[in-house]
Amino acid sequence: MQPGRSCLAIILAAGEGTRMKSRRPKVLHEVAGRSLLGHALAAVAEAGADSLVVVIGPDRPDVAAEVARLAPHAAIAVQTERKGTAHAVLAARESLAAGHDDVLVAFADTPLVRGGTFAALRGALHGGAAVAALGFEAADPTGYGRFVVRDGQLQAIVEHKDADEATRAITLCNAGLMALDGREALSLLEAIGNANAQGEFYLTDAVAVARGRGLPAVALTAPESEVQGVNDRIQLAAAEAEFQRRRRREAMAEGVTLVAPETVFFSHDTRLGRDVLVEPHVVFGPGVTVADGAVIHAFSHLEGASVGASATIGPYARLRPGADLAGGAKVGNFVEIKAAKIGEGAKVNHLTYIGDAEIGAAANIGAGTITCNYDGFFKSKTVIGEGAFIGSNSALVAPVTIGAGAYVGSGSVITRDVPADALAVARGRQIEREGWASAFRAAAMARKAKKG
Ligand code: UD1
Ligand code: MG
Repeated sequence: MQPGRSCLAIILAAGEGTRMKSRRPKVLHEVAGRSLLGHALAAVAEAGADSLVVVIGPDRPDVAAEVARLAPHAAIAVQTERKGTAHAVLAARESLAAGHDDVLVAFADTPLVRGGTFAALRGALHGGAAVAALGFEAADPTGYGRFVVRDGQLQAIVEHKDADEATRAITLCNAGLMALDGREALSLLEAIGNANAQGEFYLTDAVAVARGRGLPAVALTAPESEVQGVNDRIQLAAAEAEFQRRRRREAMAEGVTLVAPETVFFSHDTRLGRDVLVEPHVVFGPGVTVADGAVIHAFSHLEGASVGASATIGPYARLRPGADLAGGAKVGNFVEIKAAKIGEGAKVNHLTYIGDAEIGAAANIGAGTITCNYDGFFKSKTVIGEGAFIGSNSALVAPVTIGAGAYVGSGSVITRDVPADALAVARGRQIEREGWASAFRAAAMARKAKKG
């Protein structure tokens, strides 16, 4: 990619998506926790697009809101009638007329295309092509546009419905993505007619129009797995599977050990350091960062969490948004952490809920400890000082502060602050009655014998 060249990306998101059988528009369905549209936006941004137009269907405030959320600087163009892909691109006429060096066209329902692939299409423009189209070798070409290539030049793309038998035998198919020389784009698109089997204005005809003007067109290729589109929930699951395969390979290539890669699920934004070990059956929701050397034991679920270096999680741990674990912290089995900082080397090893809290370094939280952070209306905070020791099965009723180095006796219900280095015990006092049990048993057996 040449620096200094401007690039307009036009993303077609006007699809009806009826085969999804959903209230939600197709392009807002998610792969790895990010909408299909979000994947397309990320890919063109990675390829250096500095201007962006998303073409949406009429009455789609939800799609417009997603664009505003993910790409606030993008323009939105509405295609009021569905008259074909070239017609859809021309909804962005104003931006096309503004003059850009490169124009990229992407489909919002094709979430696996890499930024590098869009960059390669731009590269073909810099090599002199007026149009560069992305193709793939289709296992089953039915339904796709076919690439007609002669002497290394792309001559035309012929839609399946318009193709004769000989053309249908071609297996090099159009993925739908294209790059156009910004100086030619508008004029090429405006020259496209709709005299074809579907009566549509085909973007693919930009190739034949360019060739007719003696302008060069080239075909680039990508693996079919990268250009697969999503039209129904089965294809959505296939896209998810491909995304996960890719992320697992990337993670391992970057120095993460995945004991059973096919059982670990990533979010689009999961970040893992070197020598992280992830055991089987771990799910990463959005917004997770794991630092070097941390261990995520089996069956853990993490979301919106940050895990410090060499910390260990699980098995069966749940980190919810705002869980922030410092280096060497230990969160064990059946522990839930939400909006809480766990200090360096602190241990929360068994059967515990820590929410809206701050736990100092090297503190030890006993099994079954609960921070009672919610009174049905408001959330309150629990602060536990460095090196404090919370005995098992304690309830800490927030707002409450346990001072550094303090002890809380097991089974306590703590409702007042505990000073540093103090012992707090808040439970029924223990009594012993010598011989009570044998007397009780004797009396009970006598009663039972009498009843017969
Ligand atoms: C298109 C390509 C075909 C390619 C295939 C790959 C054209 C003419 N054909 O065919 O060569 O093999 O994709 O999947 O480009 N859209 C609009 N407005 C419209 C029409 C389409 O926004 O008026 C959007 C759709 O929402 C979709 C994309 O453009 O995201 C492709 O349209 P679709 O109808 O799926 O085209 P295909 O027939 O699949
Ligand atoms: Mg399609």
